[in-house]
Amino acid sequence: MTHFMLKEIHEQPDVIRELLDRSISIAFEKVDHINILACGTSLHAGLIGQFLFEQVAKIPTQVRSSSESRFAPLLETSNTLTISITQSGETADTIAALKTVQSKQIAITNGIDSTITKLVDQTIYTNAGEEKSVAATKTFTAQLVILYQLAFELAQKQLTELRLIPQQIEAILRNNTIAEIAKTLENTRDLIVIGSGINTAIALEGALKLKEATYTHAEGYAAGEFLHGPIALLDSQIPTIAIGNVGKTLDRIRANQTPVIEIPTPAIPELFSPFLTVIPLQLLAYELAILRKIDVDRPRNITKSLTT
Ligand code: G6P
Repeated sequence: MTHFMLKEIHEQPDVIRELLDRSISIAFEKVDHINILACGTSLHAGLIGQFLFEQVAKIPTQVRSSSESRFAPLLETSNTLTISITQSGETADTIAALKTVQSKQIAITNGIDSTITKLVDQTIYTNAGEEKSVAATKTFTAQLVILYQLAFELAQKQLTELRLIPQQIEAILRNNTIAEIAKTLENTRDLIVIGSGINTAIALEGALKLKEATYTHAEGYAAGEFLHGPIALLDSQIPTIAIGNVGKTLDRIRANQTPVIEIPTPAIPELFSPFLTVIPLQLLAYELAILRKIDVDRPRNITKSLTT
């Protein structure tokens, strides 16, 4: 494949398979509160983690951008577990945030022996292989696998549903018609991505991928919240990408003559759908970048990780 981003998108089924063959366990008991620190794409994985820890494991969870935690440190109880998520393990803001934490700490990272691994009580590697494209893809879904595993372990529940995910991703990659959709967006400068529930984080992640790789002003919203103000933005020039069933929001959006691109609800329980809803958005970011002749593996102004 000509670009690392496309190659890494296609590596996701195997990365997930290998992670599912590995068992993980955490060395901490009596966790009554979880804090998550991360930046960028890893922060969006953190939002999915929050959803899972609260809704599956019933453990109150806070997520904060590492850079913001300097101004508003997350509160800790005596049984708090802090999870830092960072693909590189070298992001300066996440490392600085972690240094102020008193509680037990886990790092989820792809960076073997990276700086963060020296600071935490336990490291869980994403084992995704080196990710060369600046836009994170396979490391994001690998982070998700670990967050699902942790949440189900804390909930003392079996996690079997992820077994089918790799082949379902392969089916999406095989039947890929995203290049056609990308053509309709070639001249689009502003774009909205909406999702709800666990897919709100995927709306944010899809919008970030489109910003990073295609320089489109893409904004992600929770579908219900989108009605409370942002919908005023819409006109026929601003397409909306709707992830799954976003209910009445879609009717209101269509009423504005806005072009709508629907990412169908996968035929699996919604709780596990982020693995499948993020793939078309990753592919769209890739295809649109190629159409716009952007150096997709090394977009302008950003680096793989911000180490200073
Ligand atoms: C940079 C990259 C983002 C990435 C973020 C966090 O800003 O441009 O794509 O998500 O760092 O990186 P990390 O290595 O901590 O996951």
